[in-house]
Amino acid sequence: MLEQRIRDERQTWRPRPTLPGRDYRDEAVWEEEKERIWHATWVCVGRAEEIAAPGDYRTYDVAGESVIVTRNAEGELRAFFNVCSHRGTRLVDEGAGSVRKVFRCPYHAWTFDLNGRLVGTPNVEQDELFDRANYPLHPVHVATYAGFLFVCLAPEEPMPLVDFLDSGAESLTAYDRFGMADLRIGHRIVYEVKANWKIVVENYNECLHCPTIHPELVQVVPLFRFGEVWDEEIPDDGLQMVEGATSFNPTGRSTLPRLPGIRDEDVNRYYGMYQFPNLAVDMHPDAVQYYILVPRGPAHTTVISDYLFLPETIAERDVSKEPFVDFWDLISRQDWEVCERAQLGVSSRAYAAGVYPRKDRFLFWFNEQYRAWMGREPIG
Ligand code: FES
Ligand SMILES: [Fe+2]
Repeated sequence: MLEQRIRDERQTWRPRPTLPGRDYRDEAVWEEEKERIWHATWVCVGRAEEIAAPGDYRTYDVAGESVIVTRNAEGELRAFFNVCSHRGTRLVDEGAGSVRKVFRCPYHAWTFDLNGRLVGTPNVEQDELFDRANYPLHPVHVATYAGFLFVCLAPEEPMPLVDFLDSGAESLTAYDRFGMADLRIGHRIVYEVKANWKIVVENYNECLHCPTIHPELVQVVPLFRFGEVWDEEIPDDGLQMVEGATSFNPTGRSTLPRLPGIRDEDVNRYYGMYQFPNLAVDMHPDAVQYYILVPRGPAHTTVISDYLFLPETIAERDVSKEPFVDFWDLISRQDWEVCERAQLGVSSRAYAAGVYPRKDRFLFWFNEQYRAWMGREPIG
């Protein structure tokens, strides 16, 4: 099985090349990625809680396309391109809002209901034989898993979200016990990182940089000292924290309640997982942190970093002051700084490609997955 092969290649590993430098810097590659990945398959944009009630909506940038996600009168999620079907005008401003029953285009005041149906066309006359049913908003597929909100911009029906999640080396579906659908965003930090999204993914998936870049982190997760991200003794990508630690912060001490569904052995562990193409989730005994990568171009990625807690915890204290938040913010800023340095280097004409030693093997497998999506031959 692929998953086991990735993890246990101690004997057979040989140095593999990184992606070529142009994949991190070229506009042409970025345009092709939009066609083959960002506008072709499921992409995580946020959390279902961000659109709470019927008529609430929020726009999301999906590699340059503005998408509206809303809830209809039945409370079901609906998503559309942010484009009027009359003459293409941007329908709503970027951000979040709420409408009563319809979206009204600011140009000629055509209106669309919460299912995207065209319901109002002022001054289009009865005798024009104009059939409103032919001009709905352009639909976008939308689905959720564990409270995460995914959209797919492809016109055809995509594979079911769960199958997509399970198609890589790691999957969100392995962590149902963390009960993430019931957690809520207690704090959000948004970072603008001057680096290609793949550099951010690759940084997330290796720890050869940890002893140098994260002196505080390696105190909490001892295995990271050795540049390893995979503990062969623990399933599901779990890593043992330092003895006695029950929370992800420099003291290891938690004052947050333990998440109800986790196992006893989870209490001293940290679980990190990456879901292609743009979600990385860090699960802890008492809280969850995740990154959603929003690529803006070949050399710019907006990284949304959210902190999930039990709703009752958010109600009773200012979670933004939790040491858990400070700790992840510190680690994040340390990472973005080296990602930006990496971007500068790979943008040089000297950088044809680099090399992956064994402890970079998850990056190689990410690259193989990327090559498959891009229609390229695997290196193997
Ligand atoms: S472009 Fe939207 S109503 Fe005309
Ligand atoms: Fe890091």
